[in-house]
Amino acid sequence: MSKLHKNPSIMKYYLTILLIFSLFLFTACEKEVDPIIVDSEEVQDTYATLKAVVDQNCVGCHSYGGSAVEFGDFSNYGSIQGILDNSSQEFINRITSTDPNYRMPPAGSLTSSQIEQLVNWVNNGYPEN
Ligand code: HEC
Repeated sequence: MSKLHKNPSIMKYYLTILLIFSLFLFTACEKEVDPIIVDSEEVQDTYATLKAVVDQNCVGCHSYGGSAVEFGDFSNYGSIQGILDNSSQEFINRITSTDPNYRMPPAGSLTSSQIEQLVNWVNNGYPEN
């Protein structure tokens, strides 16, 4: 071994082989790993991020003092959670319906992106924060 170390051309030879081999390993690995795509548009909504939408579009009727409190109080997370635990499908059906006699809010004032955000939030288990 000591002779080997003292012979620079043999060492160069081994180093070249090692380099080629490690390059091969590196590229072989690189092919197997899928790139992680981070979509900055994909923000996970919570009650905290959607409260303003609910307050503006639902709470006027669905709260104490409102005309539809008996059909659900949407003024606080605890109450909304209870309604969704009971039937999250009813909530989704209401906000996605195009039937003016069924959809919520009755005026149909949610934008399509607000509807999508609310549906995703419900399907994600309606996190509070
Ligand atoms: C203008 C008043 C008004 C607004 C605003 C409103 N609702 Fe309603 N909502 C009602 C009334 C009245 C009913 C009961 C009549 C019916 O079933 O359509 C109801 C029923 C519901 C029901 C069914 C409850 C049950 O037990 O069957 C859900 C769910 C609901 N609303 C969700 C919402 C959501 C979510 C919003 C906001 C995006 C909203 N509502 C906005 C008046 C309103």
